[in-house]
Amino acid sequence: MLLEVKDLKVSYGNIEALHGISFTIDRGEIVTLIGANGAGKTSTLLSLARLPRPEAPVITGGDILYDGKSILKTEPHILIQKKMMALVPEGRHIFGNLSVMENLQIAAYPHRKDLNRATVVGEILEMVYSLFPRLYERRKQRGELLSGGEQQMLAVGRALMTGSDFIMLDEPSMGLAPKLMYEMFRALRQLNFVKHITILVVEQNAKVALEFASRGYVLRTGEIFTGGTSAELAANPDVKKAYLGG
Ligand SMILES: Nc1ncnc2c1ncn2[C@@H]1O[C@H](COP(=O)(O)OP(=O)(O)OP(=O)(O)O)[C@@H](O)[C@H]1O
Ligand SMILES: [Mg+2]
Repeated sequence: MLLEVKDLKVSYGNIEALHGISFTIDRGEIVTLIGANGAGKTSTLLSLARLPRPEAPVITGGDILYDGKSILKTEPHILIQKKMMALVPEGRHIFGNLSVMENLQIAAYPHRKDLNRATVVGEILEMVYSLFPRLYERRKQRGELLSGGEQQMLAVGRALMTGSDFIMLDEPSMGLAPKLMYEMFRALRQLNFVKHITILVVEQNAKVALEFASRGYVLRTGEIFTGGTSAELAANPDVKKAYLGG
């Protein structure tokens, strides 16, 4: 088991956003968390990554086990340094005034004292470019001049550059035209297949998420409503009615 979330409760001030959710992710899996606006999807990812942001929720109960050990007391930067996880946040957090290549290079594990860091960075950079040829074509262009979809790819590319073998994505399909969206998911699936990178993807677009992931959980107002294989969820009448348009 790579990740085990146990009865996790989180709050913003005195508003509880997650009322004790539990789920697991095995190494090498692609798992999705689907749910409507405000269900608690972003809160879940922010709690796992625990980025030191003012808008991040506070964990008030439960536990998060990574490889069987609680990471509740682990400093967030250690999670990144040890390449335990990387988050592609909601919206696109890239540096607009830096080129595509610079955006990717500075995301490469900053703390590694590898003698051959340049070689390692070069290898991952090559992998990112082969996954997203569009980023290679635009490598000298400033981030802010990329299209929304290209920026989304760059955000994913930056997460890959950390060298982490577990990547969490918050609504990567948001704002992407279908063609780019499928390109993105194809790239992610390839990454999972070839590099065995474990993926947790949060989506409002349940149809696409269930096509992409092998397993999923449905989050409803801060609780896990149901979970199962993607096929089971897609066939579940309640899930169909609420999230798949019939
Ligand atoms: N910074 C914050 N301060 C206070 N409440 C918040 C904050 N962020 C989120 N919430 C509340 O927590 C609940 C869960 O929000 P969250 O952002 O996790 O939902 P979501 O599933 O990601 O929704 P969306 O699909 O709209 O992104 C909501 O009721 C939301 O209003
Ligand atoms: Mg969200």
